[in-house]
Amino acid sequence: MSRIQTRKELEQKEVLLRAEGISKGFPGVWEHLILDEIDFDVRAGEVHTLLGENGAGKTVLANILSGFYSSTGGKIIINGEEVKLQSPQDGLEHGVGMIHQEVMLAKPYTVAENVALGTDDSDLSNPVSRVEREITELSKEYGLDVDPTAKVEDLSAGGQQRAEILKVLYHRPQVLILDEPTSLLTPLEAEQLFKVLRGMADDGFGVVFITHKMDEVMEVSDRVTVLKLGKTMGEKMITETDEEELTEMMLDEKIPIHLERKEFEDREVALSLENVHVTGPRGNVQVNGVSLDIKEGEILGIAGVSGNGQSEIIEAITGLRDIDEGSLIVQGEEVTDVPPRKIQDKGLAHMPEKRREIGVVEEMPVGENMVLRNYRHPPFSHYKVLDKEAITEHSERIIEEFNVICPDIWKSETRILSGGNIQRMILGRESWEQPPIIIASHPTHGLDRRAVSNTWELFMDLRDAGSAILLVSEDLDEVLSLSDRIAVMLDGEIVGVVDADSADKNEIGMMMTGA
Ligand SMILES: Nc1ncnc2c1ncn2[C@@H]1O[C@H](COP(=O)(O)OP(=O)(O)OP(=O)(O)O)[C@@H](O)[C@H]1O
Ligand SMILES: [Mg+2]
Repeated sequence: MSRIQTRKELEQKEVLLRAEGISKGFPGVWEHLILDEIDFDVRAGEVHTLLGENGAGKTVLANILSGFYSSTGGKIIINGEEVKLQSPQDGLEHGVGMIHQEVMLAKPYTVAENVALGTDDSDLSNPVSRVEREITELSKEYGLDVDPTAKVEDLSAGGQQRAEILKVLYHRPQVLILDEPTSLLTPLEAEQLFKVLRGMADDGFGVVFITHKMDEVMEVSDRVTVLKLGKTMGEKMITETDEEELTEMMLDEKIPIHLERKEFEDREVALSLENVHVTGPRGNVQVNGVSLDIKEGEILGIAGVSGNGQSEIIEAITGLRDIDEGSLIVQGEEVTDVPPRKIQDKGLAHMPEKRREIGVVEEMPVGENMVLRNYRHPPFSHYKVLDKEAITEHSERIIEEFNVICPDIWKSETRILSGGNIQRMILGRESWEQPPIIIASHPTHGLDRRAVSNTWELFMDLRDAGSAILLVSEDLDEVLSLSDRIAVMLDGEIVGVVDADSADKNEIGMMMTGA
């Protein structure tokens, strides 16, 4: 593994793709440019990272470089020639492939079928069996372990990601762009992916890696370009910079994270689960007799390796999934098997893991999504007619307070917001009225550092003001920093509950894995 050490060394490598003065505006919805004269290039043999906060324009730039979007200005030069990419296929034909932030494979089909779907050839000239053989070869060549005959829906997040990469590699690109590829991966899978990316760079690919995580930048890049609100803040060889400088380039100021909290007073139980059982679609036990109490003014964190029943417990509490046995009590009232909306009306807010699917209705405007919880009641509607003015005012307050970057409350569909901005919107909406109970699933997933620290502060404020909060997070540091008590889940059961101020990270880690 050879990282490129000096600029001189870099300059000896061939430029595969160069973007000059790329601008992007979305007409009608926004005055200011989403990308403002960006210069960016990638050379054979390097991993060039694009670093920036939520909404910086990373995904839009990547989409332009790979032919998914057209630019409003500027040019793209591939192998020394200016090109106008008309489509992603066109991008691939010019040797540029992109792996998207969200998995874009057709889930009911096998990996090989998905790859075949992405080629122009007819089924006859390109039978799936041949594709299967080629994928097997590719996966050996790049150390990407994927079974071509497996259905995409049966693969883990990491497996789906590898399948996406293979689908692009099948077209033998020179430049590979990966948009936040680690966001769905376990740390081990991320580690493996970094090895693959380094190996590909060594093989002469130009790799563009998108992230807002500093440790990943340091681990995998040869070079970094920092984007902020659509502008380039600078470009550095990794050997000539450090985390501190890059953080400063990315943010305006440094934000310390400190988590002071009010002394915990013994208060009423706000939410309780008694011996809750949940069964999966194939009769498999997903939650096996869980009992928990969460008090007002308490954050109870659930730690666990993902897939041990955390998501199912949350779905059971929020009414999205049936409870087979046991009971759920909200503010002293039994609500087992009550529909989600009724549970919500009892004062339960939900910040879901699947934000785009469950957290918002993507094709509705931002304004309507801002009142998803309460549009049926005044002041947001009167006699079943929405009061646009009241909703606008409310939305503007959330947007301001939570720094949501959103072009227009009524004209923009919610789908155009970046992942991080959707999450900010949900955090704002769900916490706005200081709900008595908050169920938060991976609340800072996909957020940049500044937004993470704002969110942590928000949770502490909500707690201090008396909300009972159930927090599920794959980030153990987050669970340790925010929680008053930590429940560890393994195989659908709570295997232990510890006080967070005396908890030991290693000990929790061992409980999580059953060691
Ligand atoms: N089709 C569109 N129409 C209007 N605005 C858009 C469109 N697509 C993206 N935007 C806006 O462009 C800005 C940059 O978005 P982009 O998705 O590139 O951010 P990002 O840097 O990838 O952020 P994240 O880390 O949250 O994924 C955002 O404010 C987003 O709302
Ligand atoms: Mg993005």
